[in-house]
Amino acid sequence: MSTLQITPSISQLRRQLTPWRDEGEQVALVPTMGALHQGHLSLVRQASAMAQRVVVSIFVNPAQFAPHEDFAAYPRTLKSDCDKLADTGVVDLIFSPPPEEMYPPGFATGLTVGGPALGLETDFRPHFFGGVATVVAKLLIAAMPHVAIFGEKDYQQLLVIRRMARDLGLATEIIGAPIVREPDGLALSSRNVYLSSNERMIAGTLNKILADACNQVRACGPIAEIEKQSTNALLSAGFDSVDYVAIRDAQTLAPIEALEQPARILAAAKIGRTRLIDNMSI
Ligand code: PAJ
Repeated sequence: MSTLQITPSISQLRRQLTPWRDEGEQVALVPTMGALHQGHLSLVRQASAMAQRVVVSIFVNPAQFAPHEDFAAYPRTLKSDCDKLADTGVVDLIFSPPPEEMYPPGFATGLTVGGPALGLETDFRPHFFGGVATVVAKLLIAAMPHVAIFGEKDYQQLLVIRRMARDLGLATEIIGAPIVREPDGLALSSRNVYLSSNERMIAGTLNKILADACNQVRACGPIAEIEKQSTNALLSAGFDSVDYVAIRDAQTLAPIEALEQPARILAAAKIGRTRLIDNMSI
């Protein structure tokens, strides 16, 4: 049973954080959209290893969904999320505001993002990183945590947020945490619940095809050719469409011609109406 109260307002959040900060305690923030799984909970554990106080935010952010996307259908499981967070034994506070708290009537301010936000996800979800950067900036300004933890599962998002925090001069250190996977290697995602059992089997091939591509890049295979072959392999495995398979510089996400610096393979592909993303270090 959950014993954690939900904090619904920014002013109440600040009131609760002040005594902790006054005591000199470090605060870690883990931003989420709820529908929590072991991937999210691994971020919570990492947060508790880095700070005395752990704050988790749960907010399905309308600004990062396009009108045709799954905002209305996005899984909302607040009660069981709170139980899972209470069960970790390390969460001090859950911040879960209603939409009008984050976007008050007349809301007219937002962030524009470039650098790592250009290309890949942006080619398919042009609204996405502006919405993410705006809500994460608001969360960081509200909570002013010492550290905030984000998963490498959303690798481009992690780089965009790190850039945003640096560019705005926010005091929070942005920490990346490793991807948590199912036994067959599928990256845990709140959207995996959309998959039928046949789609779930197809989904399990994504990480294997990417791991294969990583090995080919390490063996000095031609980058463009490997991207093309991996796309075809995904389609043959049963994916309905492939938005991208891209081998990029791990820091800037700029295209590379050979493996001369740390690199990352990133992919997005759809099965039915479910869009999956994944990535790996090369
Ligand atoms: P959400 O998809 O709920 O993810 C919250 C955090 O959990 C993100 O940092 C994400 O990268 C991480 N995460 C998700 N699946 C993971 C996995 N399998 N292994 C490790 N970490 C994983 O990402 C968002 O929410 C939103 O865009 C948000 C940053 C909260 C802004 O609205």
